[in-house]
Amino acid sequence: MKNRGGRLIGGGSSSIGLPIVFFLCLFFFLAGFFGFTLFSQQEESNLRPEPRLLELEEEKEYRKFEPLEHGSTGEGFLTTIPFQVLSWKPRALYFPNFATAHQCEGIIEQAKKRLAPSLLMLRKGETEEQTKGTRTSSGTFISASEDKTGILGAIEDKIAKATMIPRSHGEAFNVLRYEIGQRYLSHYDSFDPAEYGPQKSQRVASFLLYLSDVDEGGETVFPFEDGQNMDPSFDFSKCIGLKVKPRRGDGLLFYSLFTNGTIDKTSLHGSCPVIRGQKWVATKWIRDQVTED
Ligand SMILES: *[C@@H]1O[C@H](CO)[C@@H](O)[C@H](O)[C@H]1NC(C)=O
Repeated sequence: MKNRGGRLIGGGSSSIGLPIVFFLCLFFFLAGFFGFTLFSQQEESNLRPEPRLLELEEEKEYRKFEPLEHGSTGEGFLTTIPFQVLSWKPRALYFPNFATAHQCEGIIEQAKKRLAPSLLMLRKGETEEQTKGTRTSSGTFISASEDKTGILGAIEDKIAKATMIPRSHGEAFNVLRYEIGQRYLSHYDSFDPAEYGPQKSQRVASFLLYLSDVDEGGETVFPFEDGQNMDPSFDFSKCIGLKVKPRRGDGLLFYSLFTNGTIDKTSLHGSCPVIRGQKWVATKWIRDQVTED
């Protein structure tokens, strides 16, 4: 048995047995090495999926589905927009790689030329002096129709699909830049009539498209997520709760209103101070009525 075993490997001759054993060893070493490399690449891509890999995976998953007959306002193809539910209280969704790097750069280029200090909507009886320091970013409004490159139009289309709220309900994009130390204290995007007076229309949802990475700080924060920290003594400058790190091209959608139209108190959010780097973000506020923008 031993001999036969030897023959199987060495072909019966000990003089050619050694090279074969050597090549087998080399083969298994290389197989192991490349196998590991493949595996570790997969690990990495789990953290931040490569768009191409993701597409392939989705293609596989959806190949068995054929598009249905569609209505005259529908589309003849299937589309996938990956998202993660970050929270139900408030309803918040994360969209990795919602926009391309090229799109983000194109938006920043257009906004740079017309930045001005960001403004605040004042409550009844509130003065600008009282709200100093609440919102320290610079920004500008750009509507998709002003953007001759078509980038904002494409983004607006995709946001409309992700929310199923028509483009006509969106305000113009508010493109913001936060430099080191700049922030936006936690606030609501919706306007409580008790504080702001009667409203002709209300902000239902907000879509934030991060246009840059930020080295440190600049997270979007939801301090009241799942009812946490909701005591009257809460310090609105605190960056505690659910935090979303800005990364170029990623989107964040959250709803400020419940489906019955009342304000979701857990939708309070802010922008933590930038500690290192610079934060660029394009915000689209979506209303319950058609807007003029
Ligand atoms: C609206 O909906 C929320 C969430 O379901 C609920 O907590 C609240 O009581 C409702 N308010 C009214 C006025 O119906």
